[in-house]
Amino acid sequence: MDKFRPLVRQTELEVNDLICPIFVDETIKEPVEIRSMPGYFNIPPDMVADEVDCISSLGIPAIILFGVPHDKDEAGTHAYGDDDVIQEAVRSIKSKCDKDIIVITDLCLCEYTSHGHCGMVDFGTHEILNDPTLDILGKTAVSHARAGADIVAPSGMMDGMVSAIRTALDDNGFPNIPIMSYAAKYSSGFYGPFRDAAKSSFSFGDRASYQMDPGNSDEALREVELDIDEGADIIMVKPAMPYLDIIYRVKKRFKMPTAAYQVSGEYSMIKAAAQNGWLDEKNVMYESLIAIKRAGADMILTYFAKDMAKMLNE
Ligand code: PBG
Repeated sequence: MDKFRPLVRQTELEVNDLICPIFVDETIKEPVEIRSMPGYFNIPPDMVADEVDCISSLGIPAIILFGVPHDKDEAGTHAYGDDDVIQEAVRSIKSKCDKDIIVITDLCLCEYTSHGHCGMVDFGTHEILNDPTLDILGKTAVSHARAGADIVAPSGMMDGMVSAIRTALDDNGFPNIPIMSYAAKYSSGFYGPFRDAAKSSFSFGDRASYQMDPGNSDEALREVELDIDEGADIIMVKPAMPYLDIIYRVKKRFKMPTAAYQVSGEYSMIKAAAQNGWLDEKNVMYESLIAIKRAGADMILTYFAKDMAKMLNE
C-alpha cells in the first residue's frame, strides 16, 4: 500500500517552507550552545555570514535574525544604532552571502532593554508605554532597512505597531520592504528557552498585558485583522503546535500569507525527549512540521530548519 501514499497525500512539506532563526550575539567570540536548546548556538557577529552560507546551501530560502547586544539599557537604545548588532549582521550577510537568501529581522525591544520588556516602561506603575514604543520601533525598522534587511518582523504586540512601522519605512524611502507581523502572539510558557538564548528574561512582571490569553481564539482573529488593516504583508501565529486551530482559522478567514512560529519550547521539548530516548527525533520533527503546514501555514519559523532541510534533501 505504501506506494499509494505519495499519490494521495494532501500536504507536502518543502524546504521552501522553512525559515531559520539565528541568534547573533555581540558578547561572544565563538558559537555558544544555548543551555536550554540542545544543538542550537548563539553565533558571534563575524561568523554569521558562514552560518548563513550553510543555511542557504541547504536550500532554505529565509533566515530571521535576533540580536544579543553588548549593552542593554532601559530605553533599548542598541536596537536602532546603525552600528548595532543586527545592522552589522545584516550588512555582513548582504556583502558576503548568496543574494537570494531572504533576510528577515525580528523587530522588538525585549532583547535590548535591561528590564526585558518589549516596550518602554513606566517605572512608577510598571506599565508598558505603548505609544512611545512605536517611535522606537519605527526608527529600528528604518535602521534595519538601511542595513539591507528584506523583511522586518515586529514581534512586540504593541497596538498600532504595524502602521507606525509602515509609515516610518514609507517616509524614509523603503516603501517596498514588507512587514511580517507577529499578529497573534500568545502569552506562552513555550518561550522559556528563547529567553536564555536572547538573554532577555524580564526583571519584573510578565508579558500578559500585551500578549494574548491562551484561552482566547476570536481575539486572535481581531488582532490579525487589525494588523492586515494597518498594512501587514505576512501575518504570524505563535507558538505553532499548541495553536493549530488558530493557524487554521486565520488562514481560512483572511487567506493571507501566513507564517507559524514553532517556538523555542516546542523545539526543546522534542530535543529533550529524543535525548532521553523517549521519542524518535526525526519522526517527531517531521510530524510536528507537517501538522503546522496542514493546519494552513505557508511558512514555518523553526529551530529544526536545518535538520528538516537535510532530511527533505536526502
Ligand atoms: C520577542 C520574541 C520572543 C520570541 C520571538 N520574539 C520572546 C517573547 O515574546 O517572549 C520567542 C521565540 C521562541 O520562543 O522561540 N518579542
